[in-house]
Amino acid sequence: MSTTEAVQASQEESAEEALLARIQAGELIEDMDELTPRYKAILERTLEIAAQSEVTVLTWAYTAFDVAPDIGAKVAICGTIQDEVGHAHQQGMLYERFGVNMQKLAFEADPNTYWSLPIMEFPIRNYAEFVVAQAFLDRAGRFTTWDLELHCSFAPYRRTLKKVNFEEAFHFRHGALWTKYYFEQNDETKKLVQDAVNWIFPWGYHWYGRPDHLKGHPDQLTYKVRHWTNDTMRAKWLKSATDFADRTGLDVPARYDEEKDDYVIDGMPYPMTFDAEKMDWEWEETTWDRAIGNFKKGGPMRPACYERLQREEWGDKLW
Ligand SMILES: [Fe+2]
Ligand SMILES: [Fe+2]
Repeated sequence: MSTTEAVQASQEESAEEALLARIQAGELIEDMDELTPRYKAILERTLEIAAQSEVTVLTWAYTAFDVAPDIGAKVAICGTIQDEVGHAHQQGMLYERFGVNMQKLAFEADPNTYWSLPIMEFPIRNYAEFVVAQAFLDRAGRFTTWDLELHCSFAPYRRTLKKVNFEEAFHFRHGALWTKYYFEQNDETKKLVQDAVNWIFPWGYHWYGRPDHLKGHPDQLTYKVRHWTNDTMRAKWLKSATDFADRTGLDVPARYDEEKDDYVIDGMPYPMTFDAEKMDWEWEETTWDRAIGNFKKGGPMRPACYERLQREEWGDKLW
């Protein structure tokens, strides 16, 4: 390293330390010029995952359209899709400030590289499954975006997520309302709802990835891009989801434990992995490496669902 390079490296390091000190003191960062390379890289990675995963909800929600029972349900699905396009757009507009072309990221990225959760790559079998997924999984997704709105040290990201979170809350409330409706309608719909809950509930619990003790302390937390850890979000979701299930009469593998004064899983191995062919969970404990490896492989619609998205054939069945 030459002297000039050494001076530059030490200047960059002190700029990095100065920004970190401001952030840790609770200051919010407003301007793009204030971003240091490390902070910028953390925000970029967060935005890339967030923006792309909003896009992938489209290809999943679309599969509910054919199985929706009536026009009201079809309108609700279209509304959801429209909201999710908006979420991708909101976060994409912010991401473009980092010099990224969101159009390219959404419509020209290699379909095999989309960041998503595998549940978004399974077709929806009936409308009960769609509303149950809203009730449990939009609830799960909202904890991640809500954390960013409440705590992110980059102020523009907080503002971007206001509308997103308002709509995510609407999605899970919509899901909760109709889950209850179909659970109480008749024996047939009750069974559809319970079957959907058995499939969907573990996706919510596995939503946040590895537990904290296996993850270390990521830069996202050091730079206060996030405040809630994976374990914190999982615990918040478990409480909220189990409480909803108990109020509605749904059977879930979790309960409130009086002795611990906390919500605990009960009857669900953790971690476990899914069986894509059976569209079910294995229901036996596995290793985190295997579970995460299968999550990365994705579900059966991958990558065809993203190829379809890129061909923009969305109008085909709608009109
Ligand atoms: Fe969303
Ligand atoms: Fe949503």
